[in-house]
Order: sequence, then structure tokens, then C-alpha cells
Amino acid sequence: MKACVYTQYGPPEVVSFIEAKKPIPKSNEILIQVNYATVNRTDCGFRSAEYFVSRFFSGLFRPKNTILGNEFAGIVAEIGTNVSSFKLGDKVFGYNDKTFGTHAEYLCLNEKSNLALIPENIEIYQAAAICEGAHYALCDIRAAKVKAGYHVLVYGATGAIGSSAVQLLKHFGANVTAVCNTQNVDLILSLGADNVIDYQKEDYSKRPQQYDFIFDAVGKTSFKIGKKVLKEKGIYISTELGKNGANIWVALLTPIFSKKKVLFPIPFMYLEDVHFLAELVRTNQFKPVIDRTFKMEQIVEAYQFVESAQKVGNVLLEIDASC
Ligand SMILES: NC(=O)c1ccc[n+]([C@@H]2O[C@H](COP(=O)([O-])OP(=O)(O)OC[C@H]3O[C@@H](n4cnc5c(N)ncnc54)[C@H](OP(=O)(O)O)[C@@H]3O)[C@@H](O)[C@H]2O)c1
Repeated sequence: MKACVYTQYGPPEVVSFIEAKKPIPKSNEILIQVNYATVNRTDCGFRSAEYFVSRFFSGLFRPKNTILGNEFAGIVAEIGTNVSSFKLGDKVFGYNDKTFGTHAEYLCLNEKSNLALIPENIEIYQAAAICEGAHYALCDIRAAKVKAGYHVLVYGATGAIGSSAVQLLKHFGANVTAVCNTQNVDLILSLGADNVIDYQKEDYSKRPQQYDFIFDAVGKTSFKIGKKVLKEKGIYISTELGKNGANIWVALLTPIFSKKKVLFPIPFMYLEDVHFLAELVRTNQFKPVIDRTFKMEQIVEAYQFVESAQKVGNVLLEIDASC
């Protein structure tokens, strides 16, 4: 099968588009013919090993799993003898951040993994981008214990995580103020944001509005700035570690010294979350934002674009659009 393979950590050019061995499903696994995957910031992080800590999961000296990609949408092409949840031809989507492997024509997964049938009101390419950004957003929204009526500011509302956060926060009944640049204001309003602040024209921390929760979805603001507009018991969460890991240290110290707290939740996805997101898609409450699509052989360009930190929503990798 064709696959995007890397055998050493480094820049986008360490990934090659080559022939690899097609996996064979075990008795409890399904073989998925991947139609679309995403290329996302997690793939970039594991590929570059920019944060050394990622090597404790992916291999100290070189990657154990040589095919990246953690999201997919595709078709069940084979099933193991003990599989009962899926049948041949089912259209499925899901998330695999344990062994990755979606940047390839075929992927084997245990039938109990994070996967589900694609809702009928969404195209297969869109389904590939349901999980990653949304599961980070969901994890942080839950950690902040967001309730209906909460005032939440999403900084960097146009990334995969930010654009998911805006939609999920509206589902939970929050009043959402989204921060983005001029050209994306209409997009963010279309996702349901109640207010938009254009960071190219205005500093959100100078407004009188106070927030219960500030979610820095792109790691471009800070607790130091955000706390000026956090309510007395407000919560600040960033998706990035911050300068010198500042967000970890502040997360440890603010519960002791401050009523305004920084949290740094460890993201985790359960099968119930995949079903929860599928239901939101089915009921038109959530739709992943897609920026652009690259062909599999353009994997290096795809990584370069994702690393520019200017993508709007998600970047897709077209593996096989024929199905
Ligand atoms: N904690 C984790 O495990 C984990 C996992 C995955 C990703 N991440 C991190 O999460 C962050 C978000 O990832 P993502 O994939 O959602 O999106 P992303 O690719 O990092 O963000 C793209 C968006 O960021 C916005 N942006 C860039 N500079 C900005 C600035 N100075 N102020 C406000 N917005 C700015 C851009 O919007 P405009 O066009 O509006 O400028 C762009 O649309 C990344 O920093 C990534 O490293 C963390």
C-alpha cells in the first residue's frame, strides 16, 4: 500500500511517500481503507519531536510507529473473525492517537477503538476532521466546568481546536466571545459566536467585559494578560505549554495563591466522545471547518502549511477519493 513514512525525527522533509506493507486485521480488528485523513499539529509535534517529552510516547531515538496521522474517514474493507460491531462497506471515522497510521491507504483497528459510523448528513472528507480539534476543546471545556450562561472568551478561534470550541461551547449554552483576525470574522460568526474581537484592531484585555473562562486555543495570549478580564473565580486554559513551560507552573501555583486559576488538563478521548461528536454532527450542532486538501504525495507541503500556524480549521490529506 502507499503510505507517508518517517523513520527519524525532524522537519517535514523526513517524511517520504513510499510503498509500505499492507496490514492484516487480527480476529478482533477491522481493516479500514482510508479515504481522507488530517495533517494536524499533533502529527507535527510527534514528527519533529520539538518537545522532547513526546519521545517517551513515540520512541526515544527514533519513531516506533513510522506512519503518522491520527484522524481518518474511510470504508471497512475487511473484518476479523470475531468482529460484530461493523460490517464490510461501513463508512467509518475516528481517532487513533495510540499508534497513529492514518497517512496510509489501509489501517487496522480494534473494533472497540475510537471509531463510529459516519453521520449521513456529512461528506466523507468532512468526517475525517471531526475528532482531533474537538476532543482537545471538549477536554478543556469539561475541565473548566462550563455551564449555560457562562461568558467564555476563545482566543485563536480559527484553529482546529478554536473553531471546534466555539461550536461546542454554544452546545453547552455559553455566551462566546471569539478572537480572530479580520478575514475570519464572518466564518466565526457563522459558527455561532455571540461576539467577535478582531485581534488586529483591538486588545481583548482592554474591554470591560469579564469572563468565567478564557480558552487560549492557539497559545498566543497568556494568563498574565487574560487575568485582567477574568472574573474573580475565573479559569484560564491554554493548549500550549507557554514560555519555559509557564502554563504548567502557573497551573500548579494558582490553586494555592489565587482565586483565578490556570488549569492544564491532560487530553484523553473515549469512545463515548466519538459518539457524542457524531450526534452533534447529526443534529447540525457541529461541523468541522476545512481549510484545504493536499494529495498524499504532497505530504511535505501539507506539513509545511500546517506548521505555518495559519490554517483555518483543518487540513486534509486525500488518500483515496474514489470511494
Ligand atoms: N496540548 C496538546 O496536546 C496539543 C495538541 C494539538 C495541538 N496543540 C496546540 O494547539 C494549538 C492550536 O492548534 P490548532 O491546530 O487548533 O490551530 P493552529 O494551526 O495552531 O492555529 C491556526 C490559527 O491560529 C490563529 N492565530 C495565529 N496567530 C495568532 C495570534 N497571534 N493571535 C490569534 N490567533 C492567531 C490563526 O488565525 P487567524 O487567521 O485569525 O490569525 C490560525 O487560523 C497549537 O498551538 C498547537 O501546537 C496542542
